[in-house]
Amino acid sequence: MLTGNKNKKVLITGAAGCIGSHLTDRLLSRGCKVSGIDNFCDFYDPATKRKNLEAALSNDRFVLVEGDIRDPGIVRHTVAGCDAVVHLAAMAGVRPSLKNPALYQDVNVGGTLQVLEACRLEGVNNVIFASSSSVYGNNRKVPFSESDPVDHPISVYAATKKSGELLAHTYHAVFGLDITCLRLFTVYGPRQRPDLAIHKFSRLILEGKPIPIFGDGSMERDHTYIDDILAGIEAAISRNPGRGFSVINLGSDHPVRLDALVAAIEKTLGKKAVLEKKPVPQGDVRRTWADLTRARELLGYEPKTGLEAGLENFVEWLNSEK
Ligand SMILES: NC(=O)c1ccc[n+]([C@@H]2O[C@H](COP(=O)([O-])OP(=O)(O)OC[C@H]3O[C@@H](n4cnc5c(N)ncnc54)[C@H](O)[C@@H]3O)[C@@H](O)[C@H]2O)c1
Repeated sequence: MLTGNKNKKVLITGAAGCIGSHLTDRLLSRGCKVSGIDNFCDFYDPATKRKNLEAALSNDRFVLVEGDIRDPGIVRHTVAGCDAVVHLAAMAGVRPSLKNPALYQDVNVGGTLQVLEACRLEGVNNVIFASSSSVYGNNRKVPFSESDPVDHPISVYAATKKSGELLAHTYHAVFGLDITCLRLFTVYGPRQRPDLAIHKFSRLILEGKPIPIFGDGSMERDHTYIDDILAGIEAAISRNPGRGFSVINLGSDHPVRLDALVAAIEKTLGKKAVLEKKPVPQGDVRRTWADLTRARELLGYEPKTGLEAGLENFVEWLNSEK
């Protein structure tokens, strides 16, 4: 399935971010030509994003455009001539979306519209959109299945991701684009965003600072290792033309409680955490858990990296960053 992508030209929006830079490296290693667009926004240190792309920038099959997905001219220019577009650029994060809702709507909805419109105008028919497990809100039924209702988001971020799916469906229904919306479940591994729990907690523990424990520690997340996510995205890129529109979960099918996650991080770091009890923040869902039936069926997806091995790799990377 993966060799099918060799020689393809793929545009990755948000190429300098965690997932985007890993995907860039992975597709270059497969023999693809990769274009990346990123505006190096300051959601976290742009220097980190530049470092993420260091290896790719020395590859002559990689082109980086520093620009904003809300700029229709730049987006159309970067989309032109591509076989597939993987749209990852976004303002990520649930909690900050409640502080700056207009920016989230502008980038995640307005920017997504520009990417889809450029694909229509340039005749690029193979589009992958990074959606999120947050669209399930506080869905009570577990595991979360793509056929579950997702009409009750509890953060602006989740609402923008659902809006992106709706726009994607529209561009499929009206203009015939093949679009796969991947609902990603909490992605971790080397280069993980610094606002996400594993990265944030690890740094605080190493610095001897307290880590926030929300509620009674029973919140659950289906943490998914980056290599598994990449395998799912690669499989989505290589799907057959004419497949239409689909929404597919990419998770690990192994939800972990917050208190168990902290214990696993402590074990990997060999250091105890100082805990600070805090109320559950607004926007945070009680739990996430991916039903992978559809991912297995349509993408041959099978997560391979368990939390222990994934944390080892993450901590090895974190130590190499010092
Ligand atoms: N990491 C996760 O756990 C997770 C879970 C679900 C969904 N997702 C989605 O996956 C995608 C990638 O997530 P990530 O964790 O790699 O985030 P990230 O913040 O590391 O990467 C996003 C990239 O997009 C870029 N960007 C932001 N606004 C832009 C704009 N207007 N124009 C051009 N580039 C812009 C940023 O500079 C950044 O490099 C996002 O769409 C995110 O919502 C991530």
